[in-house]
This record gives sequence, C-alpha cells and structure tokens, in this order.
Amino acid sequence: MDAVEDIKQRLSIEDVVADYVTLKRSGSNFKGLSPFSNERTPSFMVSPEKQIWHDFSSGKGGDAFSFVMEMEGVDFKGALELLARKAGIDLSLYQKGDGSARKNKDAAQNVLSFAVKYYQQALLQNPKALDYVVNNRKLRRQTIADFGIGYAPNTGTALVEALQKKKMSIYDIQLAGVITSRYSSPKDMFRGRIVIPLMDPQGQPIGFTARLLDSKDAGPKYINTPQTILYDKSRHVFGLHAAKDTIRTEKFVVIVEGNMDVISSHQAGVKNVVATAGTAMTTYQLKALQRFTNDIRLCFDQDAAGIAAAERAIDVAQSVGVQLSIISLPEGKDPDELIQKDVSLWQLAITKQQYAVDWLIDRYKTQFDIASSQGKKQFIDTIAKVIVRLQNPVEKDHYTQELAKITNVDKAAIIMTLKQLSNKQPDLKKVNINPKQTKDNDYYQDNLLALLVGYSTTRRFLETSDTSLFVFSTPERQRLFEYIQQFPNVSFAKEIPEDLKDIEDYAKIVLFKAEELYAPPRFNENSRLRELQDLIQKLKINYIKQQRQLISEEIKQAELAGDQQRVSELLASFIDLNKKG
Ligand code: UTP
Ligand code: MN
Repeated sequence: MDAVEDIKQRLSIEDVVADYVTLKRSGSNFKGLSPFSNERTPSFMVSPEKQIWHDFSSGKGGDAFSFVMEMEGVDFKGALELLARKAGIDLSLYQKGDGSARKNKDAAQNVLSFAVKYYQQALLQNPKALDYVVNNRKLRRQTIADFGIGYAPNTGTALVEALQKKKMSIYDIQLAGVITSRYSSPKDMFRGRIVIPLMDPQGQPIGFTARLLDSKDAGPKYINTPQTILYDKSRHVFGLHAAKDTIRTEKFVVIVEGNMDVISSHQAGVKNVVATAGTAMTTYQLKALQRFTNDIRLCFDQDAAGIAAAERAIDVAQSVGVQLSIISLPEGKDPDELIQKDVSLWQLAITKQQYAVDWLIDRYKTQFDIASSQGKKQFIDTIAKVIVRLQNPVEKDHYTQELAKITNVDKAAIIMTLKQLSNKQPDLKKVNINPKQTKDNDYYQDNLLALLVGYSTTRRFLETSDTSLFVFSTPERQRLFEYIQQFPNVSFAKEIPEDLKDIEDYAKIVLFKAEELYAPPRFNENSRLRELQDLIQKLKINYIKQQRQLISEEIKQAELAGDQQRVSELLASFIDLNKKG
C-alpha cells in the first residue's frame, strides 16, 4: 500500500530540496542557505546518503515529506500529493475504497497465485534445492505442499517470462512485488533461493520470503517482498492462516523469530505458532493475534537484540492489553534446532512460560551486581521503568514489593523512585513553561545525543553521571538515549540499528549533526568530552530551573486546594531538588 515508500524510492531528497534551495556540494553532503531564516552563511544541509535534511539555524529537519510540508505550509496529505505528482506516481492506485484499488489487488493476487505454483514446480525440478528442503531442513512432502514452499530459478528472468507468457502485464507483476526495477529491463526479485509464500489470514498469498540455499552464499540470508498493496510487513503475522484454529483451541499463541521455526513447529504438530519475522513487534500484529487469544508467549533469541525486542514488546503488549510471557530456550538453540533434536523439548518449553515482568527481573538480576550500591541503583532504575507503566494496580504493587525484597531496599524508597519516574514521563505540556528555554533544551539534547551516537568514547561518561537529570523532551530523544545506555557498544557507523527503525529519521539527523558539528579537525576526543560535560551541565541547570518553577506552581495549587499532604510531599521534592542543584 505504501505510496510514501514508492515516492522515496523514486525521488532523492536532493532533487526535492533543489526545487527550493540552491545546493552546493560539501564533502558527501550538500549545503545551502536556510530557507527558514535570513542567514548569510549556509547552515542548511542535505545528506544524500541518509536521505534527510537538517537546518542547523532553526533545528528543523526530516525527510522529503517534512521538507515539503515546511516549505509549502501543507499537511502530510498535501505533501504526498505534491511529491506523487513530481514522482509521476498515480496516488489513486494506492487509495482504499475505489474500484481501481480492488482491481489492482486482484491483479497482484493473480500474479502471486501463479508465482506460487510456478515456484513449486521449479522446486520439484531442481535436485539441489529439493535436497536442501528435504534433507537439510527435514521438511516432509506434506509440509512443503501445505506451506506452498518452492524454488526460484537462478536465470534472472524465469518468473517474469513465465508470467508474461500467461499474458500478465509488467504493471501487474510490479504490483505483486516479484520483480525488481533496478535494471533496465524487469528482472526476477528472487533468484536461486527457496521461496516461502507469505499468506494473509485467509491463506491467500500476499508476497514471499526467500532464503539462500547456502547461508555462505553472497547476499542477505533472507529477502522479502517489499511493501505492496497486498503486503505490509508491520501488519503481517507469518503463519497465522495455519495457526489460528489451534490458537483458539489451545488458548495461547507462541511468537517465534523465524519463519522456518514456524514451519518446523507445525510439521512437528505444534501448530499454535507464528512469527514476526525479523521486525520489531507492532501493535497491529498483537491486535491481530488478540482476536484469537490474550495469552501471548514470546520466544525470542536470548542475545542482546532478542532481549531488547522482548523488553519493547512488553511495552507494546501493555498498550494493547494482552498478557505477555516469555519462553526461554536452551542457549544457542532456535525452535527449529530444538525440534530437530527432540520435539518433546519444544512441547515442554512452550508450557514453561514466564510472565514478562518476572522474566525481565531475572535477566537484569544477573546483569547488574545488586550487592553493590551502584548495581542496586541501576537495577532498580531499570525495573522501575517497566513497573511504572503497568496498568493494573495490584500488579504494580506486587512488583514494587518484589523489587524491594530482591534488592533489600525499603518499599517506600521504591515507591519514591516510581513516583519520580512517573513525573518524568515525557509530558510536553508540563515542560513547556518557557518556550525559549525549551528550544535551548532541545538544542542541547540533540547535541548531547549527537556526541553519544557519533563518538562512542563519550559514552563512558554515562556511567558516572546522574542520568536521572536527563529528561528528554520527546519520545524519540528518550528512546535513542535509553538505547545507547542499554547498548553502550553499539555502532551507528554503517547503519541505524534495526531496533531503532521507528525513529530512523531522527537517528539519522542526530548522526548527521555528529558529523557536521563534532568531527575533526574542529574537535578531537578531549574537546568532545569537554563539550559533553558542558552540555550536561547546561541541561542540568535548565532541568532544575524548570522543576523549581513547576513545583512552586504545584505548591501554590495544592495550598489553594487545602491539600496539606500534597504540599508537604511537594516541599520534600523541592528540597531534594535543591540538593542536586
Ligand atoms: P534468523 O537468522 O534467526 O533465521 O532470522 P532463522 O529463521 O533461524 O533462519 P534459518 O533457520 O537459518 O533458515 C530470523 C528471521 O529474521 C528475518 C527472517 O524473517 C528470519 O526468519 N531475516 C533474517 C531477514 O529478513 N533477513 C536476513 O538476512 C536474516
Ligand atoms: Mn533457524
């Protein structure tokens, strides 16, 4: 469905911007005079590599769409129309509700149904591919047929030619997302790979995922159909069509990471299993599953990325209102490997789920040295962040108590921490006391993040700073900061980590700032550290200033309302704050 993605693929950011701003090359970027201020020295930058723009004079930035919105004063829809025209894209093809969309979907579906059969035939005719599926992956004929597994020949045009012989138009084939337009003539998207159809909940094919025959071959292990009018990866749940009946009868569902894990599990008779296939879990996916059950069990890798994904899933699960638990597998095994070894181990594992918050506590208990005061503090801060978001008061109390018990800290102190955190939840209304101060703060925060993102040596400062004072003014900033805290060794040099895809544009802008503001020769390691300390100091002063204003304001309100208890609570936090300043 995604017109936005299509437009981004056809129009480069520099082409869009060049209609409004004269750009000159500056290293790997472009530079120009800011269209938002009357500046003389250019501070408006465009990064072709990151496909973003950033205006250093006003602090604005984003992708091609946000640029057109700013320049033309239109909303997102207006920018979409403008850019679609520029890209030569017919938006009506993407719009819901009118006949042409239905027609396009039918056409794409037609192509896909044919492609599924074509690939299935091709598998039977290719001994090497068949050997891989049958002997390496241990799939039985029935499973291969049930999941429509096939093979995409390696010639480059095998499928296109077969489809054209059937009088299907290139236009329709393109809608289905099975060819690539990277070359002068249409070529097959999938070549020399095992292909697995992606199906909608009714079992209709909407795309493919395709695996290398040999993991050591060149290219990514799996490639998937791009977003099309039929396939939206953030909404798709792999295997749901085959799992839904069993999910209803078993009253729970297991989410695994890999599509192959799903197929393997179904073959072994455990059929209430689906996959999110390499993407961070979304509310759409959970809502789709919630139609069948509220008991959702997550079985992700036990590596850092898997743990981070599970942790974020807790958040998503809370907002959707499902009961999320975690299934842990023996180190280094994925469900498929476990099933190959002994299916009863898998059957057992999925009934040994641990409620998500308990699981999280267990994970972090070993990660921090909770015998030390520093470790204890970090542990409490980390878990409290999750507890504070629990909706159910009984649950909240239970885990507050639990946390007190584990750390041997007074429950009142934990409650205090929770209270501080809930005040800290980004609340733009509250922080917007003084617009000028807010703007400065945003600027300091972006620069601080730029240093942390772009120059990993600055990150050790986080260990010794009181990070409770870092109150970021947007969820994006907060996410990015917490991510770096959690993965202090992460590198952004090659690409934005998969886990941050939802704030990708923002992360790119920060990276862009890092390169523009703090690169050598202007800065070296020492001056960057000084800058970092300076920014931390400024943020701290601003934070305390704002909190003082805020608390005084609230004290006034509480006095007017005659709420003595609230007044004394507020006074206590005021005194606390003064200690920090
Ligand atoms: P894994 O690497 O855990 O794959 O990726 P797996 O399922 O165990 O694969 P096999 O057993 O080697 O075949 C998990 C999921 O992440 C996505 C795929 O959807 C995969 O099922 N992925 C992985 C990609 O999209 N691209 C890749 O290159 C790798
Ligand atoms: Mn595997």
